[in-house]
Amino acid sequence: MYDLDPITLAQLPGVEVVAWHDLFVDFDRDSAVRYRETLEEACDTDGIGRCVWLAIHDDLHGVAGRYSLQLSFTTSTLWANSALSSRYPSSNQRGTLRMSAQNQARPTIAEIDGRALAANFKELARVAGPEVGVLPVVKSDAYGHGFALVGRFLREAGADRFGVATTQEGLDLRAVGVAGPIVVLGGVYPAEYERVVEARLAPVVWEAETAVALAAIAREAGRVVPLHVKVDTGMSRLGAAPADAPELIETLRGLDGVTTEGLLTHFCNAESVEGVETQQQLGKFTELVRVLEARDLRPPLVHAANSAATLSTPAAHFDSVRPGLALYGVYPSTAMRARADLRPAMRFVSGIVAIRSVPSGTGVGYGATFVTERPSRIATVPVGYADGYPRRLSNRGQMIVRAQRAPIAGRVCMDHTMIDVTDVPAASVGDQVELWGDVLPIDEVATLAETISYELLVRVGARVPRLAI
Ligand SMILES: Cc1ncc(COP(=O)(O)O)c(C=O)c1O
Repeated sequence: MYDLDPITLAQLPGVEVVAWHDLFVDFDRDSAVRYRETLEEACDTDGIGRCVWLAIHDDLHGVAGRYSLQLSFTTSTLWANSALSSRYPSSNQRGTLRMSAQNQARPTIAEIDGRALAANFKELARVAGPEVGVLPVVKSDAYGHGFALVGRFLREAGADRFGVATTQEGLDLRAVGVAGPIVVLGGVYPAEYERVVEARLAPVVWEAETAVALAAIAREAGRVVPLHVKVDTGMSRLGAAPADAPELIETLRGLDGVTTEGLLTHFCNAESVEGVETQQQLGKFTELVRVLEARDLRPPLVHAANSAATLSTPAAHFDSVRPGLALYGVYPSTAMRARADLRPAMRFVSGIVAIRSVPSGTGVGYGATFVTERPSRIATVPVGYADGYPRRLSNRGQMIVRAQRAPIAGRVCMDHTMIDVTDVPAASVGDQVELWGDVLPIDEVATLAETISYELLVRVGARVPRLAI
């Protein structure tokens, strides 16, 4: 079964993606026929029911001797593709999108833009410079974007090492085919040691006991576990004191079954441009690296910079930067917008499933906390706090309908939210609604919801399909 997104298509022999968003691919004639058959068959068996119709167009792009496959979609991807078509109207003009009423799926979807992810990864690599690696942080299901999609897109973009928070996340990442080094940033627990060794994960450690126990299991298994030693330079969360680190690394060096691959610290306030904490932390960490170098104990991979430090503090780049948020196209602070060109990788969308015209004085939603003050059109959108749409946005958030902002009317329910579309007269059932993404920046939504973009991203519910676009 093929995952019918352009990146997968582009990997098929004979395929050249010529217009990614319009989903046109150029083939030679034989390949076109063969892949149409293969893809149609794949779609039939695809549980999601994605691709329903393919057509071969002679010389669509005016290249002699080439043929194009044109893909159109229905069922669960229809809405995502309707979204594409409204953003890239050529698809619509070609009439490729058709609504299939009986198969229509819930329109609440997180569109994951693989191109944006790849571009952000490369942009962060550019900022870091040619001598510095990029260790993408993909904890919490890749900040809610989905391990499988993100793992694939980033590997294709050149990522060869990943950071996760927990052992289980490391195993999940292995399960979607990531074979390279995976650093478990949050440390590992005794009940997990065997699985850590078996899955060749690279745990962060700050105590000799952890390393001793891992080393014993590794020796038994004939393995060597790569360790990353964490030092606490000011976050007061996890890590050895910098003064204890040389002895710790010396002890680890004497252990068979482990090797000290990395040294790291984590900044507590790198997003504040004036923050003195970063300079203090950096000072302690740099001094430690100097001491380790002098004692010939410096691990080969020294890393410290989260997104904010990657963008703001070149002296913190060391051997590799370790960004999470920025990778997904979200700036750690507005002050950092000028430092890199990032694109949001997630567009959280839903659709209007009902519109009712109501007189002035009508209560809307639980508790009737919104009461219309004029004859109004109230639209129902099937997204609620069970999907990760914050209840705090009740009566204060907005959604984008037909490029306009429509205010939330009443309380966000578990599965639905109502918006006032009185001032968007063309709004209709079936319209796509953007909850955050290209038009409505996630940081703006986060501020309104009195939280941070990180929390919004990782809370997108498990029942929301992540679809590659
Ligand atoms: C140890 C560690 N490194 C790197 C990151 C990535 O941080 P950010 O998403 O701010 O780039 C995190 C995330 O909180 C982290 O805990």
